[in-house]
Amino acid sequence: MSNPDSPTPEPLIAPDFTWFNNARFGIFVHWGIYSVGQYEASWAFFNHGVPGQDPKDSLPLDEYMAQRHAFLARRFDPVAWCELFKAAGARYTILGTKHHDGVALWDTAEGLSTVRDCTAGKDLVAPFVDAARAAGLHLGLYYSHLDWNHPDYATVRQPGGFTHIPKDSPSYRYAYPEGPDDPERWENFLRFHRLQLKELCERFSPELLWFDGHWERSSEQWKFAELRKQLLEWRPGVILNGRMGGYGDYDTPEQGIPTIAPKGVWELCMTMNKSWSMALHPSYKTAQELVRTLCECAGMGGNLLLNVSPLGDGTIFYEQERLLREIGAWLAVHGDAIYGTQAGLPFTHFYGPSTLSADRTTLNLFVVDRPWSEVSVKGIRNKIKSITLVGHEGELKHRISGGAEFANIPGVLWISVPAEACNPLGSVVKIKLDGPLDFYASEGQVVTQN
Ligand code: GLC
Repeated sequence: MSNPDSPTPEPLIAPDFTWFNNARFGIFVHWGIYSVGQYEASWAFFNHGVPGQDPKDSLPLDEYMAQRHAFLARRFDPVAWCELFKAAGARYTILGTKHHDGVALWDTAEGLSTVRDCTAGKDLVAPFVDAARAAGLHLGLYYSHLDWNHPDYATVRQPGGFTHIPKDSPSYRYAYPEGPDDPERWENFLRFHRLQLKELCERFSPELLWFDGHWERSSEQWKFAELRKQLLEWRPGVILNGRMGGYGDYDTPEQGIPTIAPKGVWELCMTMNKSWSMALHPSYKTAQELVRTLCECAGMGGNLLLNVSPLGDGTIFYEQERLLREIGAWLAVHGDAIYGTQAGLPFTHFYGPSTLSADRTTLNLFVVDRPWSEVSVKGIRNKIKSITLVGHEGELKHRISGGAEFANIPGVLWISVPAEACNPLGSVVKIKLDGPLDFYASEGQVVTQN
């Protein structure tokens, strides 16, 4: 029998990936108490005393947590952040609302938070959410399932005893109980976990939830099947990343660009330097490398989620801002070849990334290396309407060479690309076809009849 006092549950709305797939470029933000001392988020205490870890990169839990007293967030300007992300050409942003250290950046009812436990003394998620919306960015929130500071987290082991932490490691205690399992306390942890996620969904209405830290418990222990349903009730239509033990919506390869396109919807998350949080000795990737990675992701039908790691006071380090603005300037000219596109040709057909427009009548070739007078493309059976170099007047000269007409195998298209006109971050050669790409890929043929 239904309970007349309980509200009618909202219908489950399946996620719609249209905006996500069109966006192609997003900005991830890792910011918290760990940004103060410029240590790696949460891992700095987890790795402390672990053999093989550089002691300079870690510190004991109490010293790690002491950073909260100096976390003032005095220069936190979410409007300026989001305007910068917009200027970088990002279409969405994902804010870390709670890392593995358990310090929530919003005014949560339970657990550690920047409101109660840090000198900042305020909710940092709410103003960010408003600023992201005002800037027209799609909004996602990062949340770590595991919480190494919650008293009820380290209360049960994973069935089968699998763990990424050696038993004699000092960090074992953050993840697993010292004595026997205590399933009741684990249930209490799950209650808290749901409470926080309900708060995030209902207060901030994110379009995407970006989970992390699922690896220390099984899907059954997390009750991920049930969680998926709950999340879609609390926030109909929300997209869930894949770190949900098989119950998420898309894959999130991390740091290393895939060399084979993952199946389905996907997003590469990557840092500009080596760490997720502001680091003392960063060694930055170049704008050229970052733009190339974005082209490679789009070329394989995926997104790039590029990480930004502000300083403890909320300042975005000048080197990060410079890189974002360089990417933005490039996208302002070449964005048509990135946003709303589909995966392009295999690398056998063009020696670089490429994308197709949504209607498949325009092929964008990314010329990321300095060309020698001509670049070549194989497999196009269509008639060519025009070929241009984005950002330049006039058409590029081209010729078609060879081919096997008797077997409908197209010749190789050679395009003259003047190196001096190319953009050092990457150029786009735009080929307009007479219709949707009529594509040839095969092992070739010999004459069987004359
Ligand atoms: C890893 C790390 C975490 C980081 C995340 C981002 O799971 O544990 O520190 O936030 O990747 O993808």
